[in-house]
Amino acid sequence: MKILSVVGARPQFVKLAPMAEQIAAAGHEHVIVHTGQHYDAKMSDVFFDDLRIPAPDELLEVGSASHGVQTGRMLELLDPVLERHAPEVVLVYGDTNSTLAGALSAVKMHIRVAHLEAGLRSFNRAMPEEHNRVLVDHASDLLLAPTAVAMSHLANEGLSDRARLVGDVMTDVCIRVAASVQNNPIDLPVHVEHGGYVLATIHRAENTDDPQRLQAILAGLAALPIPVVLTAHPRLLAKAKALGLTVESGNIMVIEPLPYPAMVSAVANSAGVVTDSGGLQKEAYLLGVPCTTVRTETEWVETIAEGWNVLDPHAESLADLAIRPIAVAGPRLAYGDGHAAAAAVAEIGALH
Ligand code: UD1
Repeated sequence: MKILSVVGARPQFVKLAPMAEQIAAAGHEHVIVHTGQHYDAKMSDVFFDDLRIPAPDELLEVGSASHGVQTGRMLELLDPVLERHAPEVVLVYGDTNSTLAGALSAVKMHIRVAHLEAGLRSFNRAMPEEHNRVLVDHASDLLLAPTAVAMSHLANEGLSDRARLVGDVMTDVCIRVAASVQNNPIDLPVHVEHGGYVLATIHRAENTDDPQRLQAILAGLAALPIPVVLTAHPRLLAKAKALGLTVESGNIMVIEPLPYPAMVSAVANSAGVVTDSGGLQKEAYLLGVPCTTVRTETEWVETIAEGWNVLDPHAESLADLAIRPIAVAGPRLAYGDGHAAAAAVAEIGALH
């Protein structure tokens, strides 16, 4: 079977890694299309290198723009690519504008679509990602869901017959990389004590684009009693500058985005994680680190239910939450045992 993957943003490269490996292992042909939504080397190339992902077959180089323009550029460029490669299945990942463009292009050309990480819902319609998820799930022929909760969301929307529970492929990668860095921690570019810092990321539009919210989050982080290593997404720095806010103040130490193995190592050795990222909430859970999520809701509700993650929607309680002790014991198995990609590829193969 010929499978064409459309990726473009950092978390999609992480998901692509185990999928590319399993697609090759199953003997399918795999074409990789990179839309260029994320284009900085630290947001893109290092992931392909570190996670040993084959180089993309097609680079669309769409770059940054408003949602409509960015998605529109992708649509225009994807048509001839899909025509040229004529895949049997287009595989899209997660909830970004690249996911929406890939799915829309394929359905318009009557090519079957498989959506990896289907069924996640925040029920927050102010998030661009929520619209992308819902639209892509309804357009797709195969819905590869990471959790039972995601399956239940799909059932509520009448999509059960297309849905399959396969587990979470980011867990596959995290487990593998965590094992390799466990005894060889990767140094951070700033000096901090092992276990003596908070690791923070902030990039979601609802946080970076609202001056009051962004100011409250930065003030909360700056006032924490231990160093806060903030790996800065380009959106955060650009928006803070435009709003006249200083990112590096108090205990905040700003560093550039980390490659994936360094990020896993940094999380594993931290005292706590503060984030608005989806993937990082799960990584903190898998690595047994308390996470505080600066959002009004999360799609990864299992991390909350099991006591590893708490929401601090207005960043008011970071002082109490960021390095709280965790009294939870027991295995953390909500996202599978690290074999989700193999299950997902088997389901895609069964579409034949
Ligand atoms: C996107 C996804 C989000 C995902 C996130 C992971 C959508 C709607 N959102 O958000 O779901 O969690 O990626 O990071 O698709 N920029 C650079 N260099 C880059 C990439 C971006 O400088 O390599 C800057 C640009 O100024 C751009 C801004 O970051 O305007 C935001 O990029 P964008 O593609 O809009 O999405 P993200 O915020 O990264």
